[in-house]
Amino acid sequence: MKTLRVELGERSYPIHIGSGLLGRAELIGPHIRGRQVLVVTNETVAPLYLDRLLAGLGDYQVEHLILPDGEEFKTLDTLNAVFDRLLERRFDRRCTLVALGGGVIGDLTGFAAACYQRGVAFIQVPTTLLSQVDSSVGGKTGVNHPLGKNMIGAFHQPQCVIADTDTLNTLDDRQLQAGLAEVIKYGLINDPAFFDWLDGNLDRLLARDPEALAYAIERSCRDKAAIVAEDETEAGARALLNLGHTFGHAIETGMGYGAWLHGEAVGTGMVLAGQLSARLGWLTNADLERIVSLMGRAGLPTVAPAEIDSRRFLELMAVDKKVQDGLLRLVLLKGIGKAVITAEATAAQITATLEAHGAP
Ligand code: NAD
Ligand code: GLY
Repeated sequence: MKTLRVELGERSYPIHIGSGLLGRAELIGPHIRGRQVLVVTNETVAPLYLDRLLAGLGDYQVEHLILPDGEEFKTLDTLNAVFDRLLERRFDRRCTLVALGGGVIGDLTGFAAACYQRGVAFIQVPTTLLSQVDSSVGGKTGVNHPLGKNMIGAFHQPQCVIADTDTLNTLDDRQLQAGLAEVIKYGLINDPAFFDWLDGNLDRLLARDPEALAYAIERSCRDKAAIVAEDETEAGARALLNLGHTFGHAIETGMGYGAWLHGEAVGTGMVLAGQLSARLGWLTNADLERIVSLMGRAGLPTVAPAEIDSRRFLELMAVDKKVQDGLLRLVLLKGIGKAVITAEATAAQITATLEAHGAP
């Protein structure tokens, strides 16, 4: 097992990464506040892993809530189902919520914990590659609104993250590939040596080589933890973690939540960000080709969906948390490993990029 730390003063916490971690009472126990524990999971993950997790919680008063599966259920209505259960079972302010599942369960459970009685403790037990490398770390929690992805939420850090890499064995290939998009993101943002490693080891990751996966998860979490420690609430550098997300969130909202996986939309978004960066003269064609090729080899889509025309795409992109005073700010690339936040791209340049790469 490897243990990293997210350094945030009194809100610091460990990330445990390794095989056989579910059910280890000594890992989860020290992070549980009070006696009451609500495990929130979904109908896909519960039959696979709930019993194993519960085995490590024998000393507590444990309830579990099994939600429907899917991005389309990451809503205020589903959030209310969590509050209903907490209130029905008279959970008090010293309770702990445990999120067992992918990023949808993690974001929603974390947001429930942020709101219930003005804030209770929660623990992340991520079970997808995407959630192990990204969403379980850093304290961004929330739900979607029909008009915008992740638009309702809060910063609320977990007490700890327990990433059991064995859970990845039951993940289907499409979900594994979606997770790889967020892994590649770290290489593009500020870790060019990791991008090179990914270029050379992608086949091992696709073949689920345990050593390669553990390394990619650890390095991704290390990269993310460093950025979060520098800028917890996204006043500056943390926005770099949104590389590909302004394009990606537009795809997810425009296509209907769940039609494209989050990782697929972000993967295409990073390619579009690369194309726009090349159009601005910031990225060489050779680097752009490396990015497009790696994304394609990872099985990710590399062009915008034909269902969203460029005008609608721009409208959707304008509903973004990086918009300031009506100005759209994007994360673009000045090289592999050199992401920047910029308002320099014009609407005409974005439109031309979209229309050259799939959007009607
Ligand atoms: P997800 O939570 O929908 O999980 C993907 C699918 O895999 C689901 O059907 C799920 O039930 C299933 N699953 C989960 N674990 C499994 C396992 N071990 N074996 C078999 N099936 C399993 O999707 P995701 O990709 O994990 O997360 C995407 C979400 O994360 C999006 O809502 C996105 O906005 C959010 N996100 C949040 C952050 C953040 O910082 N908070 C960062 C990135 C993404
Ligand atoms: N996934 C973006 C962030 O955590 O900031």
